[in-house]
Amino acid sequence: MIEGRTVSATCVIGLQWGDEAKGKIVDLLTERHDIVVRYQGGANAGHTVVRDGQTFKLSLVPSGIFRPEVQCVIAGGVVMNPASLLGEIDGLAGRGVRIEKNLMLSDRAHVIFPWHFEEDRLLDQQCAGGEAIGTTMRGIGPCYRDKVGRSLAVRLGDMYRPDFRTRIELIAKAKNEILGRLGAGGEPLDPQKIFEAYHGYAERLRPYVADTTAYLLDALEAGRRVLLEGAQGALLDIDHGTFPFVTSSNSSGVGVSAGSGVPGRYITKMVGIVKAYTTRVGGGPFPTEQDNDIGEHIRRCGNEYGTVTRRPRRCGWFDAVAARYTTRLSGIDTLAVMLLDVLSELPELKICTAYELDGRRITDFPSHVDDLRRVVPIYETLPGWQQEIRGAQRLADLPANAQKYLDRISTLLARPIEVVSVGPDRRQTMFAEQAEGT
Ligand code: GDP
Ligand code: IMO
Ligand code: MG
Repeated sequence: MIEGRTVSATCVIGLQWGDEAKGKIVDLLTERHDIVVRYQGGANAGHTVVRDGQTFKLSLVPSGIFRPEVQCVIAGGVVMNPASLLGEIDGLAGRGVRIEKNLMLSDRAHVIFPWHFEEDRLLDQQCAGGEAIGTTMRGIGPCYRDKVGRSLAVRLGDMYRPDFRTRIELIAKAKNEILGRLGAGGEPLDPQKIFEAYHGYAERLRPYVADTTAYLLDALEAGRRVLLEGAQGALLDIDHGTFPFVTSSNSSGVGVSAGSGVPGRYITKMVGIVKAYTTRVGGGPFPTEQDNDIGEHIRRCGNEYGTVTRRPRRCGWFDAVAARYTTRLSGIDTLAVMLLDVLSELPELKICTAYELDGRRITDFPSHVDDLRRVVPIYETLPGWQQEIRGAQRLADLPANAQKYLDRISTLLARPIEVVSVGPDRRQTMFAEQAEGT
């Protein structure tokens, strides 16, 4: 409470390796909120929203954009490529989405430049143990690296300062030297061309740019309801994920405040999103991966191809060790279990409930990637339901075995399931209170 008003913010966090269908849930929850905020990551994210039979794929613009009365904010923890953001804005406006009046960009957000793409391409090959991270090649890691390094970084607000041209000249000179040493071929980067292009982007983006930290604090203190949209998933968190096979921001619940500028104590609800199974796109260990007919079946039924890169996603069983870890790490209150329909044809299902490491049974998620590579999953087998569920309207309508499967996930993660999704459409969603008739 601040001056008699209730301060309330809800956050949506993916609990696996991304693509848990956060876009769908954020779009649904937007109905109960006034402001929706993206606060970390960048155009490595691809959030899908299906509305009125139309599919929208969002990279930077918050998934609340479809409700004109809702303000959408891209906060300071995000890294943005102005050209791709403008492309996204134009694409949405071209499809009739109202955007000019309800999008706001933080002047603190860091800007991605052409050298970041080059660095992403040159450095991803040289990662741990020879395995590439398999980044989305959107310049995300290199831009965050410059943010932390400070001297070669540019924030959105810097593009409107009188020394912007000289900053670009200085940085491009340093970057040309660095890229040369990294073995980049081709022409050196031309600072004049880059300045002109970015000056043009800056002018187009000017109406959206604001101090979003001040805006959000004012809004919260005035009792407006804020929804924070996590990108990626908690297992990709730079500090707490499967390092180095992670992204470059804090994508678990611990990153919300730093990225958004919203104090942790104002966040009143954390919603954790999981798929009913597990997927991963890119490199790194994945204990429950099914590199076999089952994985292929899940990929086909779930259309598991990257929203951003179209890469086939690696598919496997639900890993309750990993999801329990990220549920606790992110301080999750309730769960949304997505894509349950994808499992409908399988005669039996497995859930990983523990790992075996060096002959010992463990239930804590290993902190070192080498240990995670060596774990052997211990599975519990549950009967499937082999029934179409995409039309289910209430949780009680689901086959008994589907309900048992959900109960098991809820028990293992020690959290209630609030939402179950059985298809991409908004109508293919069940809320726990509906099942109880409330
Ligand atoms: P995000 O990055 O977490 O927003 O997830 P993505 O959009 O990358 O991937 C989720 C995909 O699953 C999208 O294509 C959604 O349209 C789709 N989807 C969402 N919920 C369901 C569901 O319950 N069942 C099925 N079959 N697909 C779903
Ligand atoms: P959404 O928000 C799935 C993965 C990449 C790679 C690693 C590092 O749609 O869930 P990066 O380009 O961030 O340096 O890549 O992280 N990755 C994602 N995987 N969903 C995402 O976003 C992802 N964003 C990054 O595949 O393994
Ligand atoms: Mg995605």
